Amino acid sequence: MAEWFETFFTGPLSRGFIGTWENPAALRHARMVRKLLGLRKGARILDAPCGQGRLAVPLARMGFSVTGVDITAPYIRRVRKQARIEGLPIRYILRDMRKIAFEKEFDAVINYGGSFGYFSDVENLDFCKRAFRALKPGGKFLVDGPNRTWVRKHFLEFMVHQEAEPRIVSRNRFDRRTNRVFSRWTFSQGKHREVRTSSIWLFDAAAVRELLRAAGFRDITLYGLPSLGRVTRSSQRIIAVARKSGK
Ligand SMILES: C[S@@+](CC[C@H](N)C(=O)[O-])C[C@H]1O[C@@H](n2cnc3c(N)ncnc32)[C@H](O)[C@@H]1O
Repeated sequence: MAEWFETFFTGPLSRGFIGTWENPAALRHARMVRKLLGLRKGARILDAPCGQGRLAVPLARMGFSVTGVDITAPYIRRVRKQARIEGLPIRYILRDMRKIAFEKEFDAVINYGGSFGYFSDVENLDFCKRAFRALKPGGKFLVDGPNRTWVRKHFLEFMVHQEAEPRIVSRNRFDRRTNRVFSRWTFSQGKHREVRTSSIWLFDAAAVRELLRAAGFRDITLYGLPSLGRVTRSSQRIIAVARKSGK
């Protein structure tokens, strides 16, 4: 049976759920990622998963050499086309990111925009280990996600994500034993309805540190959002930047 993330983004309505480089916030996010990673022009970035190139396209326009991996074929096709039109240095790979097998190729690996925690605990850790292996010594892994502490305090069993059509709503349940949010999503436009489910593991500051240490990282810095300051109970999201030791 297919995993939820193999089909979630493939529907005529659900595929529009995630943004592209045309999204007004995309450039701001790409600039923040550049600043947190402290990369030089020409640096090699692995964007896994890259979705519709929301960050890959602006990062390539800034002069980085980007490799994007994603499991959703129409997303890869869309970004490949844009890269060709603009002549951008982007390599696109249609692949399950649980199977990436790069060795010391990248200055940075990013997993951004609510893309972490989709797999089992073992597979989530394994992905971090693969990110570690993909990095050159001194390279950095950036991962972001909602802060579990904040989510639990402000938990909504019913959420309206988009009022305008396609209307997007979710019914949500937090499982305290597994620290996962299980959601049932409905995308509706006129008479057309698509229903999708998701299961996402959420981290707090301690859990993401523990995970990244288990993957081999020692030098780990956490940022709380929206301020990019220290992580507190009121940080809505956490960005972790972990450095692989060595020069
Ligand atoms: C919320 S989107 C974020 C994409 C992108 N990072 C961004 O910020 O726009 C999550 C993405 O993960 C991809 N995805 C889900 N499971 C995957 C897997 N096992 N391997 C590769 N990509 C996957 C989906 O196709 C989707 O593009």
